[in-house]
Amino acid sequence: MIPVCYPFIGEKELEYVTDCVKTNWISSKGKYVEEFENNFAKYCDFKYGVATTNGTTALHLALACLGISKGDEVIIPSFTMIATAFAVVYCGAKPVLVDAKPDTWNIDVKKIEEKITDKTKAIMPVHIYGHPCDMDPIMKLAKKYNLYVVEDAAEVHGAEYKGKKAGGIGDIGCFSFYANKIITCGEGGMIITNDDKIAEKAKSLKNLSFPKGKRIYKHQDVGYNYRMTNIQAAIGLAQLEKIDELIARRRKNAHLYNKLLKNINGITLPVEKEWAKNVYWMYGIVLDKSTAFDAESFAEELAEKGIQTRPFFYPLNLQPVFQNFKKTKCPVAEKIEKQGLYLPSGLGLKDWQIKRVVREIKKILK
Ligand SMILES: Cc1ncc(COP(=O)(O)O)c(C=O)c1O
Repeated sequence: MIPVCYPFIGEKELEYVTDCVKTNWISSKGKYVEEFENNFAKYCDFKYGVATTNGTTALHLALACLGISKGDEVIIPSFTMIATAFAVVYCGAKPVLVDAKPDTWNIDVKKIEEKITDKTKAIMPVHIYGHPCDMDPIMKLAKKYNLYVVEDAAEVHGAEYKGKKAGGIGDIGCFSFYANKIITCGEGGMIITNDDKIAEKAKSLKNLSFPKGKRIYKHQDVGYNYRMTNIQAAIGLAQLEKIDELIARRRKNAHLYNKLLKNINGITLPVEKEWAKNVYWMYGIVLDKSTAFDAESFAEELAEKGIQTRPFFYPLNLQPVFQNFKKTKCPVAEKIEKQGLYLPSGLGLKDWQIKRVVREIKKILK
């Protein structure tokens, strides 16, 4: 079986984790947390990093820091992983959905303005599968309507929009370090920001709003325990030290797929806009209906040949958990979900494995 993805863990990770264990710094205090936060924020050209337990808690923490609450609306894409919407719901606010663009699969920026109301507090673009969103029009809208921009950058560590790191453009960027991400901590997340007050608030909220000073058990606010452990941060730091190599591998794999798949009719490949650096977190393809396959039947064929795939995200407007979204129509998100899947995209993927995947795709489509 060629797996769809697996992490790339090495000696450095082992060395740093061993250091945590040997020195007894295994909880959320310890040098690796701060070093990982500082170095990751610096990598994104942002001032502050605040580490969390995972990407979902990073998103929730970001919105909580901005005071998003009941009665507020947050604009998000329909085509995203469920955590984006859950974070809004955790705050008691309402997610408002926008359809995807057929080429980048990201939020269709031309359809955002019509969704803005006097209840809208923030836009939360999600950079999908490694390709950044078109951020300039989003930032322009945010300025015009006085809205926050919280980037869901869970899938795009190191991707660039016009030379700037994705996640490092809006008010807050949120990352996930789950095992299949560009860099991982096993589980983990981080928010990054340039704003002193947001950073301060985030540090407090993620730590149960423990006050500073002597009366540490006297709390003014409701907080959360979203603390990353020193062990997680140790793995993350070791990964961050080799992030350029990890991204180069992902891009190399994607370029080989592009070269071998480009002349096959009926398949849409991932794009890289002239203003973007795509880190190809996952190599997605969308099948044309003329191939007589949808994503599910195509995945079954590939699985029979020992090739693992994953379906695209299920659009939020069709999610059973959100019955009230049913009225929102998102035809692009619905189409790419039906016809889209991602191919093996792991870092350890060998050229011969990519060639085998492509050979099997050709055979199936013949
Ligand atoms: C776009 C997006 N947002 C948020 C998350 C949530 O991150 P985590 O799984 O670390 O909670 C993910 C995770 O895959 C994601 O892909």
